[in-house]
Amino acid sequence: MEQDSLKARYFDLVRELNRHNYQYHVLDRPIISDGEFDGLLQELRGIENKHPDWISRESPTQRVGSNVSEKFGKISHVAPVLSLANAFSEEDVKSWLDRITKLDERIKFADFVLEPKIDGLTVVLTYQNGILIQGTTRGDGIVGEDITPNIRTIRSIPLKVPINNHQLKVPDLLVVRGEVFMFNSEFEELNAALVKKGEKTWLNPRNTAAGSLRQLNPEITASRPLRIYTYQILSHNGGEIPKTQWELLEYLNELGFPVSPASVYCENANQMLQQLAPWKETRENLDYDIDGVVIKVNDLLIASELGFVGKDPRGAIALKFPAMEATTTLENIGINIGRTGVLTPYAIFEPVQCGGVVVKQATLHNFDFIREKDIRIGDRVMIKRAGDVIPYVIGPIVETRTGSEQVYETPDQCPVCGQKVEKLPGEVAVYCVNNACPAQLIRNIEHFASRGAMDINGLGIKIVEQIVSNHLIKDIADIYQLQKKDLLNLEGFGEKKAENLLLAIEDSKQQPLGRLINALGIRDVGEVMAEMLASRFSDLSAIMDAGFQDFIAMEGIGPNIAQAISDWFHQPENQKIIQKLKNSGVWPMNIEGAANEKTESNILAGNIIVVTGTLERFSRDEIKEFIRKNGGKSTESVSPKTSFVLAGENPGSKKAKAIELGIPVLSESEFLERYA
Ligand code: IVH
Repeated sequence: MEQDSLKARYFDLVRELNRHNYQYHVLDRPIISDGEFDGLLQELRGIENKHPDWISRESPTQRVGSNVSEKFGKISHVAPVLSLANAFSEEDVKSWLDRITKLDERIKFADFVLEPKIDGLTVVLTYQNGILIQGTTRGDGIVGEDITPNIRTIRSIPLKVPINNHQLKVPDLLVVRGEVFMFNSEFEELNAALVKKGEKTWLNPRNTAAGSLRQLNPEITASRPLRIYTYQILSHNGGEIPKTQWELLEYLNELGFPVSPASVYCENANQMLQQLAPWKETRENLDYDIDGVVIKVNDLLIASELGFVGKDPRGAIALKFPAMEATTTLENIGINIGRTGVLTPYAIFEPVQCGGVVVKQATLHNFDFIREKDIRIGDRVMIKRAGDVIPYVIGPIVETRTGSEQVYETPDQCPVCGQKVEKLPGEVAVYCVNNACPAQLIRNIEHFASRGAMDINGLGIKIVEQIVSNHLIKDIADIYQLQKKDLLNLEGFGEKKAENLLLAIEDSKQQPLGRLINALGIRDVGEVMAEMLASRFSDLSAIMDAGFQDFIAMEGIGPNIAQAISDWFHQPENQKIIQKLKNSGVWPMNIEGAANEKTESNILAGNIIVVTGTLERFSRDEIKEFIRKNGGKSTESVSPKTSFVLAGENPGSKKAKAIELGIPVLSESEFLERYA
């Protein structure tokens, strides 16, 4: 019974793989990623190894390549255009070495060449007396398609060789194999131009290269930035060719054929094995996609004497990298609301392996991106992970649509608070402009409490969500009003946890001014900018009193940031928050900052003043401001450095201390007489 279902699976796999082969090689429109294809092929090979008697003539393992498209003339290759066996780990490479060493002792002393396995399309170029007479695709490895007019449009393919070294003798017949591909940077430019024209963009460089190469109109091919790297001489007649792969690459280069500069020569097997790991980084730094590294026995005679396993030569093997692309179903689109109110859509996928990790979500950047790419809920989508960065959506695979996919409408309301969203002129971002939106509040508080800001231990996103959804706080200043009894009502909070959080909140009052400014979450004001403001101003009031001109006068602040700072501090809600912070004792000062501030006069310059008791003409804040603006400094406690104490009604201990230290004490009227 189990046997029956395995057999059924086998034939399903044959059918499925053949369909994907056709999509990929004939239509140039793959509907699954290379990695997924390899996975299915591996499964098929596994079954065939166990049950060789089941092997069907239609199995994709029974031929080298793919169907030949009917569009182009067919050409038989002078020699089979073979493929390579795959390895997926260093272990696999070692077993390959063991296998071939058993067959040929000389491998023990052999040298090797490592080449990038370029993710492009194989082409075969035929030169007669140095002149390019034909270019074909690989087709099924035996018969290819005649794409000569298209090949001739690729500028890096020489029409006549040798180009460089005219002393070189070229064989009368020279058949060269190479890989046609696109540089990623040029692919991006091509797509950017398509976006500009409002046309559909390509999914990846490989598909684009394939589609471009098999154009019936060579003018279209000519307009695409195709490139070639060559790596094999399939056949030659008359004349000598090098005896090693490394020399062959040099020879091709000398003739005028591009070869990849990334190839590496290795003196022996050990060195070769050591050279494998660095390819992870090489891969990330190349401007073209590679899906592995090809390991070749350098001595071409030894390599050819090793023979074949099926259609794969034994003298070389491809160490494949984890595929960085995958296809999956877009199950839904979610929305994140940032600190500044920006709505950012993100994709929710059916979980899929991509680049060695399981991917469930990815950003969709903004709503224009969804519209431009025509991404619909329910679509199969191609996703990519480049290097270690977070995955992103390349685009939908339109061919697999069933009609049940839903076009996504950009929301006109904030999904959290329900208020109308806004789009600022000239910006792609959509904003929720409701300052009281709980989603924004959560992000604001999370930022306020974060490491580089007020660093409130225990106030992470989960707790913040709990506190906000229980309506315990309405703005960042309310953090300092939190009561133990409120916290104890929250799930997961016991005495200890509540006390620790309140202690951490209390401690945060000691954070310096720069951190508080950063914590406020002003758009474009990060840690560095916050520090700059903190060293220029003495406290938040001073910044509130300053204006656009003061900010723009500072080095490193341009008009946009100056405006953002000025706007933030002039908003009445924000001024209220600042007042609340002050009332709670969250009021770090920077004495040096005061010295930098614009003063109205210098009449108090050099004076350090302590104010105590109630004044008639000034509130406590107003007198401090008056002192600051006239060049003086106000401090809280009396010390020998104090110049004088300004004492109002009911002055208390500060006046007594001044008298004790022999420091002058001025009444409000005396003060006004001298300085106002
Ligand atoms: S050697 C007998 N070298 O990878 C020689 N192949 O299955 C076999 N490829 O489609 C090929 N870069 O077109 C070789 N530096 C390279 C390559 C390379 C890409 C492609 C090749 C084939 C596949 C191997």
